[in-house]
Amino acid sequence: MSVVLVTGASAGFGKAICQKLIADGFSVIGTARRLDKLQELQKELGDKFLPLQLDVTDLTAIEALPGKIPPSFQPIDILINNAGLALGLEPANEVPFQYWDTMVHTNILGLIKLTHTLLPEMVKRNHGYIINLGSIAGTYPYKGGNVYGATKAFVRQFSLNLRTDLLGKKIRVTNIEPGLCGGTEFSNVRFGDDKKAAEVYTGVDFVTAGDIANTISWLISMPEHFNVNSIEIMPTAQAPAGMSVAKNM
Ligand SMILES: NC(=O)c1ccc[n+]([C@@H]2O[C@H](COP(=O)([O-])OP(=O)(O)OC[C@H]3O[C@@H](n4cnc5c(N)ncnc54)[C@H](OP(=O)(O)O)[C@@H]3O)[C@@H](O)[C@H]2O)c1
Repeated sequence: MSVVLVTGASAGFGKAICQKLIADGFSVIGTARRLDKLQELQKELGDKFLPLQLDVTDLTAIEALPGKIPPSFQPIDILINNAGLALGLEPANEVPFQYWDTMVHTNILGLIKLTHTLLPEMVKRNHGYIINLGSIAGTYPYKGGNVYGATKAFVRQFSLNLRTDLLGKKIRVTNIEPGLCGGTEFSNVRFGDDKKAAEVYTGVDFVTAGDIANTISWLISMPEHFNVNSIEIMPTAQAPAGMSVAKNM
């Protein structure tokens, strides 16, 4: 039976992905910083779910991770690099540098370190699938998206470059690029203000974590010869609706 490792499994997309993939019959390793949330999830999902505490900004801990996984959850067939965050929506000249630092360490360094740690075994077995959580922010700029969007542009290009390096190997890579998705902690983390976070979703029929989990379930169910390079998903209520012009500057 195939084994999936999901980062950021304590909330939002990651939690929904674990729930869906366990229902699909996979064994799932769920990682995040909040072990209590993962342990709660294990109570719901049972023994085919392995909770493991991991801060993806701790590169030494990532390197040690394979040694902490019991044989029944090895080898890992599918890596879902989902852990990530946006901090703030201030313009570049006002945002605290710490926000940029944290986003780069989480969304870029954590993702590439985990990939670098697990990929050699996939190559050795000539089998595997890496699914990255990018964002439409990696393609379409928006005000205050400065470094968050740039980290997701990195993830998009890294995903494409991985496919290039892996040409000739039976290893798939997909970058998922969601737009506005609600029902997760994303905006609560971004604003550190639950009221402000709730306002983002008022009056919008948003994409849900379940929608993203169903998309991943479908991607995995497709045969090995079929690779989706990237998939952009927005709610019907969202579209790239034109450039802005500043007048009388
Ligand atoms: N929601 C959206 O609208 C949206 C749109 C496009 C893309 N995305 C991307 O989709 C992914 C998931 O977003 P979400 O909406 O599900 O957000 P979420 O509800 O805030 O969940 C984020 C997950 O990442 C984990 N995480 C954050 N920092 C971490 C760290 N240093 N080490 C380990 N785990 C860490 C969190 O767990 P702990 O706090 O327990 O560590 C949590 O489980 C992110 O990469 C995000 O950028 C989201």
